[in-house]
Amino acid sequence: CGIVGYIGYNDSKEILLKGLEKLEYRGYDSAGIAVVNEGGVHVFKEKGRIADLRSAVDEEVLANTGIGHTRWATHGVPSKVNSHPHQSNSGRFTLVHNGVIENYDILKREYLQDVPLKSETDTEVIVQLVELFANEGLSVEEAFRKTLTLLHGSYALALIDVQDKETIYVAKNKSPLLVGLGFGFNVVASDAMAMLQVTDKYVELMDKETVLVTKDGVVIKNLDGETITREPYTAELDASDIEKGTYPHYMLKEIDEQPVVVRNIIQNYQAENGSLKIDEDILSAMKDADRIYIIAAGTSYHAGLVGKQFIERMAKIPVEVHISSEFGYNMPLLSEKPLFIFISQSGETADSRQVLVQVKELGHKALTITNVPGSTLSREADYTLLLHAGPEIAVASTKAYTAQLAVLAILAQVSGRSKGIETDLDLVKELGIVASAMEALCDSKEEFESIAREYLSVTRNAFFIGRGIDFYVGLEGSLKLKEISYIQAEGFAGGELKHGTIALIEEGTPIIALATQDFVNLSIRGNVKEVVARGANPCIISMEGLEMEGDRFVIPEVHHLLTPLISVVPLQLIAYYAALHRDCDVDKPRNLAKSVTVE
Ligand code: G6P
Repeated sequence: CGIVGYIGYNDSKEILLKGLEKLEYRGYDSAGIAVVNEGGVHVFKEKGRIADLRSAVDEEVLANTGIGHTRWATHGVPSKVNSHPHQSNSGRFTLVHNGVIENYDILKREYLQDVPLKSETDTEVIVQLVELFANEGLSVEEAFRKTLTLLHGSYALALIDVQDKETIYVAKNKSPLLVGLGFGFNVVASDAMAMLQVTDKYVELMDKETVLVTKDGVVIKNLDGETITREPYTAELDASDIEKGTYPHYMLKEIDEQPVVVRNIIQNYQAENGSLKIDEDILSAMKDADRIYIIAAGTSYHAGLVGKQFIERMAKIPVEVHISSEFGYNMPLLSEKPLFIFISQSGETADSRQVLVQVKELGHKALTITNVPGSTLSREADYTLLLHAGPEIAVASTKAYTAQLAVLAILAQVSGRSKGIETDLDLVKELGIVASAMEALCDSKEEFESIAREYLSVTRNAFFIGRGIDFYVGLEGSLKLKEISYIQAEGFAGGELKHGTIALIEEGTPIIALATQDFVNLSIRGNVKEVVARGANPCIISMEGLEMEGDRFVIPEVHHLLTPLISVVPLQLIAYYAALHRDCDVDKPRNLAKSVTVE
């Protein structure tokens, strides 16, 4: 979910709606805004997209103060009733919330037995508690703080009071939230992108802080009511990066940006003498580690699987890769000197963040690889490596994945080198070759469109197979396809299919096989034969030099370790066209959110 707030001299509606549009990637099940003026509080909400909300907003209402929310449903189905803002029963307080309150049921029973609730959400409990305590005689600020001390879980909150249109009450715990500063106005946003239209000056908030935002000031306090001072920073985002330009979808734009991103990464990680460089403190953390634990979710997890190969081969450090939501309660026996690497495009994924908190409590070191400087995971880890991929807006991750691979390869090689391990890989040169190969693939879009049409227009499922590093790319390819086209897609290790899943192969079942690795080229082709014998429709994507008769597409040759950076591109494009052919909403697939800030 995402939240915004505005207080100033202008009408707030449009600023809030524009802000929410920029936050739509965080969830788009329903959305709402509440604005307050002399006439009272006016709440507009709608199930669906911000565009639906926009048409529900009354243009005539003018108000200088307001809050807004775009929702990814956790408690309660996506509906108008469950959408934010939520109001207290008297209508005095109005609240937007991002996060999950774990003890809301207990709070309901303990404090709100006599208060009828309107929705099924944990959020309503918060706003009713504020009203309860205010009715008991506390000032709004005190009632707000008292409520916060009772909450267990994650929250980013913005609250308005109909009796005081000059203040927005803000608080944060575990969910991201920033306050943006302007002249004669101030704003609140889940991320800087949302309010870039009005300001690039932001103040970070830490967990368990509250903020009183007025048009002329911002007062940060901790839960004991002590004032905290913190300098603002300038968000270095280019507003044009978050526009689609002439592209029909962000996803296509972001796929096309991959060659530029790889070149950017080379530049950003190159020392003056042309060799690749990584900060000394990161290198010494890598050197000290007897084992690396990569923690990530979704696409970033798939990048981690490839990253393991890079680090083990080039830096000779054993690596384990874990899904963040599992790791928290299922922690493996840790080695003596572990180093944790968090991979996260957004740097905000709550599942990963909860692991980081645990790891820090255990006193271990952590490195975050992220696309978003200043994100929660970046701030809270000891070290950060940036992806330099520019904002990724489409929910299905593409350029962040290849950027993660490029940065992991650089980290692996430079770490290895710092320990005296040399690899026969001129990474600067080879990444340059990768960038050109990506360009060639992006120029072959008609090919991938026709593959998507031929194999995926009517099927209900599809399988991706590969061996070794190709298997991991297959996992990512299948995730792309299922995310945006809703075709049930699974990635398998080539040899594993016969141990069960082959039962699903029917006449015409599409099998997309990757063959980019010489040492398993024949075995993966053997696996293809097994499924073809059962009626499957094979689409083999191989690499130049390894191609055989009947291959559907041959990718340009790149270094054998770096093939994932380019073999994924056809899979991204095939998923894109499959989704288009099926009339799916490519950039905003159903039920998903780009940045999931709840555990
Ligand atoms: C969400 C997105 C995925 C993404 C995952 C991890 O589920 O829909 O595309 O891979 O989060 O996100 P992160 O920002 O941590 O890489």
